[in-house]
Amino acid sequence: MASKIWTLFLGVLFLISGAMAAPPRKPVDVPFGRNYVPTWAFDHIKYFNGGSEIQLHLDNYTGTGFQSKGSYLFGHFSMQIKLVPGDSAGTVTAFYLSSQNSEHDEIDFEFLGNRTGQPYILQTNVFTGGKGDREQRIYLWFDPTKGYHAYSVLWNMYQIVFFVDDIPIRVFKNCKDLGVRFPFNQPMKIYSSLWNADDWATRGGLEKTDWSKAPFIASYKSFHIDGCEASVEAKYCDTQGKRWWDQKEFQDLDGYQWRRLRWVRSKYTIYNYCTDRVRSPVLPAECKRDRDI
Ligand SMILES: *[C@@H]1O[C@H](CO)[C@@H](O)[C@H](O)[C@H]1NC(C)=O
Ligand SMILES: *[C@@H]1O[C@H](CO)[C@@H](O)[C@H](O)[C@H]1NC(C)=O
Repeated sequence: MASKIWTLFLGVLFLISGAMAAPPRKPVDVPFGRNYVPTWAFDHIKYFNGGSEIQLHLDNYTGTGFQSKGSYLFGHFSMQIKLVPGDSAGTVTAFYLSSQNSEHDEIDFEFLGNRTGQPYILQTNVFTGGKGDREQRIYLWFDPTKGYHAYSVLWNMYQIVFFVDDIPIRVFKNCKDLGVRFPFNQPMKIYSSLWNADDWATRGGLEKTDWSKAPFIASYKSFHIDGCEASVEAKYCDTQGKRWWDQKEFQDLDGYQWRRLRWVRSKYTIYNYCTDRVRSPVLPAECKRDRDI
């Protein structure tokens, strides 16, 4: 009898704790194959350390890429990447989330390579309901080819945040009230790829890929996905409001994070569509929510 009551008590405890927010977990290295599959040119992906580390190879024949097995509505997605070292001019390494349907939603990191010793550019973009044109470009405060750095996306009902090593470099708030579409009702898959884009990537296309330096190699590890997995047709997320990444403290940046974001913006910004009055003479509505403007 006592043990029955005890079991019941434990069961209730479990139910309660299961329903409460778990604290954010530190990403651990997982094998590539747990979350991802190659998308094309399988022979251009090389595996190391039991598949917990991979390389994408680009040569004059092809680039390559991979995508998540599942699709997700909200979550926290991160990846450690070591970008193409040396002469990477003309190459683009991308890490992004993208929906499958026609009203396209997309959250992009794009790393634009450069000649040896010249700085990479990190370009980010957000598409909602088919509308993009929200580019921001920054330089990084470290050499992204010298070691692994974590690039992650937090996506919940309130905001989309781009992080580099836990430092927010961009935030896209849910501005539904201002008439701006926000991704909330279609799942996305996570993708990464390495390809040739020497028609635009480096100094606007002036610098061409030097194929004598091929193969160009980007390295990856810590294939971390912590999202609400949903079928491609799903319209909402089952665990809405119950996961660590949609709790109160993740609904906005905190003071410290806003200060870090301001630091990145003031020191490393190359381009921000929010301040490009030539391309958008009228301030895009979501930019009004931007605390720095
Ligand atoms: C591609 O690169 C290889 C190795 O450098 C070279 O032998 C080949 O001719 C190149 N092919 C083309 C189409 O440029
Ligand atoms: C490449 O280096 C040049 C010269 O330093 C710089 O103007 C440019 O922004 C860098 N990055 C890219 C991707 O073009």
